[in-house]
Amino acid sequence: MHILGMNSGTSVDGIDMALCEFQPDPGEQGTLLLHLLAYKEQPYPAELCQQILHLCHEKTCRLDELTELNFAIGDAFGTAAAGFLLEQKLAAREVDLIASHGQTIYHLVEAGRRLSTLQLGEPSVIAYQTGVTTIADFRVADMAAGGQGAPLSSLFDALLSSRASATRALQNIGGIGNVTFLPAGTGPDAASAFDTGPGNVLIDYGARHFSHGALAYDRDGELARAGEVDAELLANALAHAYFRQSPPKTTGRELFGDAFASEIITRGERRQLRPADIMATLTAITAQSIASAYQQFGPAQIDEVLISGGGAYNPTLMEMLQAALPASKVVRFAEPGLPAEAKEAVLFALLAHETIHGHPANLPRCTGASQAVVLGKVVPGANYQALTQFICTQQNYPLVQRLRLRT
Ligand SMILES: Nc1ncnc2c1ncn2[C@@H]1O[C@H](COP(=O)(O)OP(=O)(O)O)[C@@H](O)[C@H]1O
Ligand SMILES: [Mg+2]
Repeated sequence: MHILGMNSGTSVDGIDMALCEFQPDPGEQGTLLLHLLAYKEQPYPAELCQQILHLCHEKTCRLDELTELNFAIGDAFGTAAAGFLLEQKLAAREVDLIASHGQTIYHLVEAGRRLSTLQLGEPSVIAYQTGVTTIADFRVADMAAGGQGAPLSSLFDALLSSRASATRALQNIGGIGNVTFLPAGTGPDAASAFDTGPGNVLIDYGARHFSHGALAYDRDGELARAGEVDAELLANALAHAYFRQSPPKTTGRELFGDAFASEIITRGERRQLRPADIMATLTAITAQSIASAYQQFGPAQIDEVLISGGGAYNPTLMEMLQAALPASKVVRFAEPGLPAEAKEAVLFALLAHETIHGHPANLPRCTGASQAVVLGKVVPGANYQALTQFICTQQNYPLVQRLRLRT
């Protein structure tokens, strides 16, 4: 099957697209071969990005605006997908499915409230514009089953990256950070996962603040590199209750958004810290919160920490992480055939592949759901009949035991 995975994370920097080919390994029952054919990040239209960030910050909006935004994001995804397929010289009929995570607008995991989440990007618009059946909204089925709806990367991580001889932590650093722990010699059943807290959100906010909007992020960690971490400011931020809360746990801009970042900056400015010192401290908050999460909730010995997401391209952050985790080897996630920045879009393609075959793809140990469930909502596109006929020929498709990358 050819599946186009799409997502936009909490950084709201752009739409990630990964065109994947999946086929069962003829020589090994239960092994699924994954070939990443092409990857692209399509920047969001600037106005749409502003609208989304504004909405996440204000947390209030008019219903007509919210309704329209759902379709506008769907349009942006549909246009990006159609353009990407054109670039790849692929006709819509050559693609079986689109997997769209959409854009997270709100993730509600407050005590005393109904666990719920809202991802926008109307899949009907994507399916209509591309002609390709679209599976979207992967979090909600897990939440219906009492889970946090996240992280959803654990199955993918376990199938691809478990190793017999090394205990690994698969850490994604997008806007928010999330980890999957894979004890040596185990599979999906032994994986554990949760959101570690801020990924790049605080750093991005600081870069925007100190550059008066000229920088969207601290490119190559240069601003932070020129500064010194302030111990008091760091300790103050790390005192946040989220960091001590036991998993399962997930978070988002609701806790670690503009308000949290701006409070840290204001404190730092009051104490006359230089912008570079504050940037270094914001970067250290991410690094230290990850290290502290591992120490509290991870396996006793972690041999390798594999970093994916945009944070893997911030060398200052990577060095701070390595310093905070001296007993582990901290490296950028790099499987031959799968670059660090493409991993999230690829994993949504895997989730859609599992959904269309009727296989559950959440790991209840990781999300806290009461059971494993089939994820997503299927929105028919022009290829729907052909797709269902094809799927009927795939009866009793075996459960995936491992993923192997083809290059
Ligand atoms: N060269 C770089 N230097 C520093 N930070 C980077 C670099 N490239 C990407 N990033 C960071 O990665 C973020 C985007 O990461 P991404 O994985 O796309 O997050 P999300 O999944 O939330 O969209 C950017 O906002 C930025 O903070
Ligand atoms: Mg992104």
